[in-house]
Amino acid sequence: MGKDVIIACDFNSASEVFDFLDLFKERKPFVKIGMELFNEEGSFIVREIKRRGHKIFLDLKSHDIPNTVKKTMAVLTRLDVDICDVHASGGIRMMEYALEGLTRPDGTRPLLIAITQLTSTDQQMLEDELLIRVPVDKVVMHYANNVRKAGLDGVVCSPREAAEVHRVCGEKFLTVTPGIRFEDSEIGDQRRIMTPAQAKLAGSDYIVVGRPITQAKDPVEAYERCCRDFIDQEA
Ligand code: C5P
Repeated sequence: MGKDVIIACDFNSASEVFDFLDLFKERKPFVKIGMELFNEEGSFIVREIKRRGHKIFLDLKSHDIPNTVKKTMAVLTRLDVDICDVHASGGIRMMEYALEGLTRPDGTRPLLIAITQLTSTDQQMLEDELLIRVPVDKVVMHYANNVRKAGLDGVVCSPREAAEVHRVCGEKFLTVTPGIRFEDSEIGDQRRIMTPAQAKLAGSDYIVVGRPITQAKDPVEAYERCCRDFIDQEA
């Protein structure tokens, strides 16, 4: 898989998602399904979106003891999704077990990436609540390195961290980056944002875009604009 735009389908019912995806007649976008939709609709929603021809990033951010995560991944791999994720803070052993659980008997598996540090975690919370007295960007890079050591395919991170993650973990290590806004979009609750064109320059492999597409007057045009700005047209 190469560079792509992943639409965060943060809707809370199947009918809203289907109405949204029905707008896309020519190109079937890569979609992200999160906890909200999955917990409401269950595995049906994944199977149905897959049946309609979309690639899926199933964003459930698993984090538990290694054996439980391994068994969870074995269930998810049967849904034939394209990307799954776990929290890097679960540790290297948990991530290794996740990879094992995800690997099918024929050796194939979805891509597995890890959340380094949620972008909602700031330095003060890190120190006061988690008792981690290290600069947050160092924590992100340390976790990214653990993710690489565990053999996973990449991380979810801010586009601002993508270049440094590639420097530390290698060019082939995937950076999947939310926090994307057009110059003229509403910022909403996101903080450290970049445009699709800036994320491309920063070396992001996949951008995850929600509201700038889902809330746009013309979602198909907003999606096409992201693709034009982010994906190498000649590639
Ligand atoms: O609407 P918006 O473009 O902000 O959506 C971004 C998506 O990426 C949401 O589904 C959000 O939960 C997810 N995400 C994020 N920041 C992270 C991890 C995930 O915005 N650090």
